[in-house]
Amino acid sequence: MRRIFSGIQPTGNLHLGNYLGAIQNWVKLQDDFECIYCVVDLHAITVPQDPVELTKSTREVAASVLAAGINPETSILFNQSQVPQHAELAWIFNCVARLGWLNRMTQFKEKAGKNRENATVGLYAYPTLMAADILAYKATHVPVGDDQKQHLELTRDIAQAFNAMYGEEFFPLPEPQILGKATRVMSLRDGNAKMSKSDPSEYSRITMTDDADAIMTKIKKAKTDPEPLPSEADGLEGRPEARNLVSIYAALAECSVDDVLAEYGGQGFGVFKPALAEVAIAKLAPITDQMNVYMQDPQQIDAILKDGAERAHAIAQPIMGDIRRLTGFLGASLG
Ligand code: TYM
Repeated sequence: MRRIFSGIQPTGNLHLGNYLGAIQNWVKLQDDFECIYCVVDLHAITVPQDPVELTKSTREVAASVLAAGINPETSILFNQSQVPQHAELAWIFNCVARLGWLNRMTQFKEKAGKNRENATVGLYAYPTLMAADILAYKATHVPVGDDQKQHLELTRDIAQAFNAMYGEEFFPLPEPQILGKATRVMSLRDGNAKMSKSDPSEYSRITMTDDADAIMTKIKKAKTDPEPLPSEADGLEGRPEARNLVSIYAALAECSVDDVLAEYGGQGFGVFKPALAEVAIAKLAPITDQMNVYMQDPQQIDAILKDGAERAHAIAQPIMGDIRRLTGFLGASLG
């Protein structure tokens, strides 16, 4: 069986990194896999959230995913907190994972920063909830951007440890699918920093709500070096900003880096940047328009998420029943 699970946090607007690293691939994989896609609101509250904003962001992220082409009839789309098995299994995994494993997680170190003592226990245990998301469905494949690789390795470690503890091959070891030409989209202001929702500069990222003017302005202001583009990929060595923009072009146009350089090698950024902005606008504008249509009908979004949650629950509940029996818990869960 081939089953996909992947998730995205409802914190702020989606950016180009989310789209190229994850969502564009989610859409393509729908034809070949049974797909379960989740807006991970339980993960979002590992850092402080305004409740009204959280509800709004959950709808917005669902709207973007739908607008990008996820078909809620063939794929399952829901928000995590509607299916209680995620939190239930996360607790069991908290009792499987070791402190030493979690201490290695670079994302916790980055997010907790210097004020580690003040980080929530939830932020620390974030990866065990992510393992629960995936394994509550016995998913076999997980399409993500490069930054989630370490969490996926931990998921495999947890699955393996659980299987060893209970003496059977209960969980599959899920495979990461890190696909496409832009698995790690970098900031437009710094080619060595990841494009992220938490960067204070709006100019560091293109979001799914940016209009054509905003996209053009942000790309024109993007940091670059004074050299023209090279004719071959080797020439991008040591030029992180140039590499990032060329990779973004290739991912948007769905061609190779070599194809981009064959066309623009020898040209300066004065020519390349407007061409890149055109490709970005052509790709993103229809998604933004469709997202706005969805956002005008929040009840429709809520109905899609509820239907998805019911279908997800129907898969996770019997698996969780087996896990409860393996663990030795008496009685059935009410959830
Ligand atoms: P999140 O919400 O940070 O990001 C969602 C997806 O976007 C990818 N991504 C990027 N890809 C390329 N370049 C970037 N700059 C970039 N920034 C983000 C992420 O890799 C991710 O695929 N922990 C996850 C959500 C999650 C999850 C899961 C994912 C919860 N449970 C189970 C897979 C399976 C996260 O915070 O993603």
